[in-house]
Amino acid sequence: MKVLITGKLPAVAEKLLKKHKLDVQVHDSDKPISKSKLLKLGKDTDAILSLLTDKFNAEVINRLDRCKIISNYAVGFNNINIKAAKKKNIVVTNTPDILTDATADLALALLLACARRIVESDNFTRKNKFEGWKPQLMLGVELRGKTLGIIGAGRIGQATARRAKAFGLKIVYSNRSRKVEFEDETGARKLPVSQLLRKSHIVSLHIPLTEKTFHLLDTRKLDLLRSDAILINTARGEVVDEKHLIGMLKTGKIFSAGFDVYENEPEINKELYKLKNVVLLPHIGSATVETRNKMAELAAQNIINVLNGKEPVTPVN
Ligand code: GLV
Ligand code: GLV
Repeated sequence: MKVLITGKLPAVAEKLLKKHKLDVQVHDSDKPISKSKLLKLGKDTDAILSLLTDKFNAEVINRLDRCKIISNYAVGFNNINIKAAKKKNIVVTNTPDILTDATADLALALLLACARRIVESDNFTRKNKFEGWKPQLMLGVELRGKTLGIIGAGRIGQATARRAKAFGLKIVYSNRSRKVEFEDETGARKLPVSQLLRKSHIVSLHIPLTEKTFHLLDTRKLDLLRSDAILINTARGEVVDEKHLIGMLKTGKIFSAGFDVYENEPEINKELYKLKNVVLLPHIGSATVETRNKMAELAAQNIINVLNGKEPVTPVN
């Protein structure tokens, strides 16, 4: 049986698939696979190990005649039309849990970088502007006693909150359901999104992108943020009205923002490059050697299970 891997991955994925006697074809390029190539190669393949940059809309899915599983190399799966896959009897899987720590670490890295102006300070020093210690140089925000608002208290949101607690931050969160154990462990308090936005000194986003969460932070909601707020997004760019946020950052309506994701990835709004009060990362939430290896292994195992008539390890549909 044939498996298509749509991009370069840690070698363990291909090794594991081949060990199970599967015929593996890799789109061996750093550039995302084109739609025409995906359709051409996908047509007679039994399984696809996909990247979050591959778009599986209904049109593409309907032409995958033999495919039994799309195994997405990501926790998010907004790049796949789940309904269309279900109709076509294609299993969709993702890579949850194993990337929780790496992504929460990165959210904290952005939080600290924004609060203490790390990137701006690094640029300042490289430009040879450091003339010695000064009482008022690069003053940032103290974390102890401030409030962190977590929007989306899933695994990653909770892991971010646990880390933040060690810095003395108080936790509030918005989530569909109450998370009692999380509240007991961290002292977190559940609030409606609007109240959370008004109250939090730092807001960190951890919701998946769905029809319901597109522009969850729209103009009206963004305007609720405090003038000293920091906004961190390691989830998906489309959950924020980015254009409005950029306007707020430009005019000092909030303190700063940390971006790991963008509304129109891979394109980045060039206005962002001109701002000092932003930290801009290239979508690296899960990018550690250990986590990417585990993701490759899990994505391959999901395929092996499904092609052998077993239950996938981490199905989403
Ligand atoms: C990364 O963004 C992921 O969804 O795994
Ligand atoms: C989201 O999928 C999470 O793991 O928090």
